[in-house]
Amino acid sequence: MPEPETIVAHAARTLDGRTGKLMGRTVLVTAGPTREAIDPVRFLTNHSSGRMGVALAEAAWRRGATVTLVAGSISVDPPVGARVVRVESTVDMRDAVARELPDTDLLIMAAAPADYRPATVAANKLKKTGTSRSLELEENPDILVSTRSARRSRTVVVGFALETEDLLQNARRKLLAKEMDLIVLNDATEPGAGFGVETNRVTILSRNGGDHEALPLLAKSDVADAILDRAEALLDGR
Ligand code: CTP
Repeated sequence: MPEPETIVAHAARTLDGRTGKLMGRTVLVTAGPTREAIDPVRFLTNHSSGRMGVALAEAAWRRGATVTLVAGSISVDPPVGARVVRVESTVDMRDAVARELPDTDLLIMAAAPADYRPATVAANKLKKTGTSRSLELEENPDILVSTRSARRSRTVVVGFALETEDLLQNARRKLLAKEMDLIVLNDATEPGAGFGVETNRVTILSRNGGDHEALPLLAKSDVADAILDRAEALLDGR
């Protein structure tokens, strides 16, 4: 017997999906944190739960899309309807995104990939030494930048920016540097927004100019719909 949420999601796709603008479109969403191994039992990660990415994958599927979710170690249930590709590290996530991109109409990078990884992974569990220890880190590839050439020319790209200062300037810089069409800005210091909560307050900026659009505090499912409304409009023009 399927869970009630699964039945509701299928009913919603039947109702929305027939007329939905994402009918026949392929959507690739990334979600959650990546894990970077230190030794066989330890890793570096961050507080991302994957909730926003899962909400986006579910909303896109309801609108009729074929959806793939590339998921790091998400701590919420996977979305109904999407094909889920599980990954561990940022390099794994980059490889999965590069593989899927040639068939993708809309890419939404909602994941929080670790920017750094240990320079070496110890083959055995690191033992206490009775003194302090330092860990050398090296930078991971940027997934959006390093998979740029695998995009179709008409692929619509949506990214996120999690900032604590100079919010709009930093978001606009990332939007241009990573060649996105839309960027969804989160203020990491704001209560009710960001990691691990059910709600989010975001500001959406577009590469095609126009002013930024500050949305009110909303459930993540409503934020997902607001993002998809704007992405659909861009897909229509391509
Ligand atoms: N991102 C990515 N590859 C990474 C890190 C981030 O593709 N290695 C994506 C995220 O999924 C997000 C966007 O880039 O859509 C911005 O991520 P964010 O963490 O805000 O920015 P960074 O580029 O990591 O910059 P910084 O940490 O210096 O703010």
